[in-house]
Amino acid sequence: MISRLKDLDIAETEVLLRVDFNVPLTKGAITDDTRIRRAIPTIEYLRAQGCKIVICSHLGRPRGRVDQKLSLEPTAAHLANLLDTEIVFAHGTVGDDIEELARDLPAGGLMMLENLRFNPGEQERDVEFATALSRLGRVYVNDAFGAMHRMDASIALLPGLMERAAIGPLVASEIDALSKLVESPKRPVVGILGGAKVSDKVGVVEALAKRCDALLIGGAMAYTFLLAQEKSIGRSRVEKDKIRLAARILERCEERGTRILLPIDHVVAEKFSADAECEIVDIIPNDKMALDIGPATVKLFSQEIEKASTVFWNGPMGVYEMAPFSQGTNGVAEAVAASEGYTIVGGGDSAAALAKFGLTERIDHVSTGGGASLAYVQRADLPGLRAITQREN
Ligand code: 3PG
Repeated sequence: MISRLKDLDIAETEVLLRVDFNVPLTKGAITDDTRIRRAIPTIEYLRAQGCKIVICSHLGRPRGRVDQKLSLEPTAAHLANLLDTEIVFAHGTVGDDIEELARDLPAGGLMMLENLRFNPGEQERDVEFATALSRLGRVYVNDAFGAMHRMDASIALLPGLMERAAIGPLVASEIDALSKLVESPKRPVVGILGGAKVSDKVGVVEALAKRCDALLIGGAMAYTFLLAQEKSIGRSRVEKDKIRLAARILERCEERGTRILLPIDHVVAEKFSADAECEIVDIIPNDKMALDIGPATVKLFSQEIEKASTVFWNGPMGVYEMAPFSQGTNGVAEAVAASEGYTIVGGGDSAAALAKFGLTERIDHVSTGGGASLAYVQRADLPGLRAITQREN
């Protein structure tokens, strides 16, 4: 069993809390603060225990260089507002001055480090960088679910360098929810996958095919599968070099007895544009591209979802950001929300789609990690979890 924060005696301890505040920004403004809000109960718990709390995260991919557009200073200010308290911002990640700031925190005091990825050591998994970070606290708590599939120093090395290490309540809730899919789930299990690329999701398609009774595939990736079945796909987006792979996946699913359902009708247009004229077709004309699943497919998918006792959904069914192509994703989201089974939505675009359609509250578990939830579904493990369990052995 992995150590959980609630099982540790941490009263008045110095805690280094790794969170995933990699939030979407538009012109420097935070456009979705879900990940920040979901970390608040953990921070409140640590404050109530009188801990000195140093919070650290990455933001974006600055590749080891300082990029002011990716500074965590505005995020620290946003968190301070939400908590209605003061947060010391460190303007750096490691070093004597930062250790001194951490030491000077009062009981229950908060400090946030600058973007960990401003330092090349974070993504190069540098032991020296991890060791310097370890001097900023005694107990390591990882509540950065969205980043636990990464091997970054603060995720994969740091737990082994500190006195104690545990997962925080957010990570615990994610693991508990996803375990309902990966460990003896209630059947029937229905998986729904969408998004653009087969290549991004090969591993997860195969893992879901093993775990699910039916796998529903929509989004652009469906057209590579349809082409593998020699269906006409017109000018729809496909990955030509993945057609044989898609055919092999379909074959393996058939051997295993997993039903794969692909779109049976489509919303097509001549161009990828919100003002394009669109129509619903069963057979895609040569000069059109499919940009959403059609209503018959929504009905077919919804019937499967209705019968399910466990549902896992990742990836939109079409270009849901554009009104004419949003009905498929909306319809599937409605069906998942209406399900009486246990419903899990794996972060990223599907979580954003749920929020857009006002359905988030009707899902049992919406993950804060897109890539991390897919990685967990594939392997029932993550580098960030292993780093904590291994130090216990
Ligand atoms: C995410 O948003 O998926 C995580 O924060 C990981 O970010 P990364 O893909 O840049 O490693």
